[in-house]
Amino acid sequence: MIVAGSESQALAARVAHESGDDLVEVEYERFPDGESLVRVPGIEDSRAVVVASTPTDETYIELLQTIDACSDAERVDVVMPYMGYARQDKKFEEGEPVTARALGRAVSDGVDSVTTVNVHEPSVLDWFDAETQNLDAVSVLGEKLEDTVESDSPIVLSPDAGAIELAESAQSVLGGEVDYLEKTRISGDEVEIQPKELSVEGREVVIVDDMVATGGTMSTAVELLEEQGAEKVYAACVHPVFARNAVLRLYSAGVEEVVTTDTLKSGLDTVSVASLIADSL
Ligand code: R5P
Repeated sequence: MIVAGSESQALAARVAHESGDDLVEVEYERFPDGESLVRVPGIEDSRAVVVASTPTDETYIELLQTIDACSDAERVDVVMPYMGYARQDKKFEEGEPVTARALGRAVSDGVDSVTTVNVHEPSVLDWFDAETQNLDAVSVLGEKLEDTVESDSPIVLSPDAGAIELAESAQSVLGGEVDYLEKTRISGDEVEIQPKELSVEGREVVIVDDMVATGGTMSTAVELLEEQGAEKVYAACVHPVFARNAVLRLYSAGVEEVVTTDTLKSGLDTVSVASLIADSL
């Protein structure tokens, strides 16, 4: 039985279609004081696969309620296509929590396994008290990029050295060359970004990142690559967080196309991670 989180209904339905499992019709209630409640009918003695991205505080409460509501199931497997708060993976200042640790412990309490998709920092999975796996959706993105990018030999870039593995997996599908962007801080609010080794002049460029949140990283990169004479710049991300006017920022910066997945709801065309998830189950 596939149990969808409210942010992941379409993806959960696609997973159910791929896996041949039934979709549970979750019921939602909101009380006058603002508290929420979910009901998960008919789950007793079956395997519950909860598919729920958690981009907000509310979706975390909903996920915890859903997991608890599944406690009569024979087995509970949780899939978090997008795990929110994974960027809070350490104390940045004294007195702060490690939020990813607190949430990892809470979510994994009483479940058999937790699956994430390109979680921002894979080491956060060590805090989950359950079997874990982190799926890589870049192969799926890569297939979509193959249909989108015109050049047979694009330059595939990550926005920083840390994300080079994402760019390498995309390049293994797309061909071309791979590099990462190097950011040099010029002043408090000015940065310069350029590829470490390669010249982008006259080339098609694909920038790959795990997520676009405010779009600051990606739009700055797109703008600078355009200035450096790139022929077309494509932006690819696994998680379309798209906070505030992120999509506008990307297109204003001159991006040719944004390629992303359905780990979160977005207004853009997406490539689905459903088969990746269904196969892993
Ligand atoms: C950072 O380490 C991440 O991989 C992304 O580059 C970052 O979170 C994107 O955020 P924004 O879109 O707000 O620049």
